[in-house]
Amino acid sequence: MAKFLAVTSRGLGQALKSEIESMDLKVIDAKDTSVTFESNWAGCYRANLRSRVATRVLLPVLEFPAYQTDDIYNNVIKKHDFTKYMKSPDVTFMVDASVKESKIRDQRIVAMKLKDAIVDQCYKKWDRRPDVDTKNPEMVFFIKLFKNQVSVSISTSGASLSQRGYRISRTEAPLREHLAAGLLSLAGWNPSIPLVDLMCGSGTFLIEAALQSKNIYPGADHEKFAFQKFPIFEKDVFQTEVDAILDGETEGPEEPMIWGYDIAGKSLQATRENAERAEVMELITLTRKNVALLEAAPTDKPGMVVVNPPYGERLNDPETVKDTYRDLAYTLKRHFKGWDAWILSGNPELSSALRLKAEKRLQVYNGNLECRWLKYQIR
Ligand SMILES: C[S@@+](CC[C@H](N)C(=O)[O-])C[C@H]1O[C@@H](n2cnc3c(N)ncnc32)[C@H](O)[C@@H]1O
Repeated sequence: MAKFLAVTSRGLGQALKSEIESMDLKVIDAKDTSVTFESNWAGCYRANLRSRVATRVLLPVLEFPAYQTDDIYNNVIKKHDFTKYMKSPDVTFMVDASVKESKIRDQRIVAMKLKDAIVDQCYKKWDRRPDVDTKNPEMVFFIKLFKNQVSVSISTSGASLSQRGYRISRTEAPLREHLAAGLLSLAGWNPSIPLVDLMCGSGTFLIEAALQSKNIYPGADHEKFAFQKFPIFEKDVFQTEVDAILDGETEGPEEPMIWGYDIAGKSLQATRENAERAEVMELITLTRKNVALLEAAPTDKPGMVVVNPPYGERLNDPETVKDTYRDLAYTLKRHFKGWDAWILSGNPELSSALRLKAEKRLQVYNGNLECRWLKYQIR
């Protein structure tokens, strides 16, 4: 058994914890941005294949105190053999470092010391060194220095799990896929609940929901997990996990239950292209509509509205955006009685323009932007 660390964006730790537990994995610690679970390699493969909320699954390998930069090189070179994750020195790699509240402050030097130690281990074993590739590396090593304690881990995922591969068309400010999935989870959405996005942009909420409705997991056709390159990769075990996922995929409900609206034709076009790529377009109904002009909810059965409205700063002028928030509130009150509405707000001034009382306010981060995921019961 090993300990693995699934990581995500700030604010999604609880959603990630529920998700990891639902995979029959033993959670031993959960924080705001990460969940530690104990498992064999099958569990690590499963988390990589199934997680909608994690951005990476890490294998922590080393911890030690460091007060001088040489402590990093000396500990790494002596205490752990990093070459055992490489079949040959032909793999490309990068080191990602973070440093907080420590005597050593320079994050680049911290990264360099780990890189030097790994390269020297490779020289010793193969007389050759692997190349660094910061754009598309096959292996990523993380070194974190916090209060003079170093922890080193290896990404078992490779590229971010958030990149599902369906986003071929973008609009301005799309949500990252794992964030949309995490927000749906925090909202308590499940495929039996009708879902409406009144400002769908490139359709991330809609597509993540539709994938869940068909029981399609993000990783099943993701071919480049870093662990597949480890010499200890258990191919049969991995295939069993993939087969279990493929066996569970369904056609989804007969009645469409997911609706998207947007004022911009190019947003709907982007949603359509992305949803077709994800093979879920048949579950989504799209209509071009200004939120102010919506005439009725698309179904009589109350469900959930999710909205990621423009934030004001980047996209439009603040006064116009305030009007958009007022229009949104008007439409919710007039046409969505009995529904729950969840709004992602990156700007308190704009959400107060709604003049609705939030029943829940969850702190989440869209990239570096602190946001609130606000729940309103429309009654
Ligand atoms: C921040 S983007 C949504 C991004 C989306 N969540 C995604 O992941 O791609 C906001 C969207 O609101 C739409 N929008 C702005 N004003 C609107 C209005 N009055 N009615 C409907 N949609 C509007 C924009 O066209 C844009 O697509």
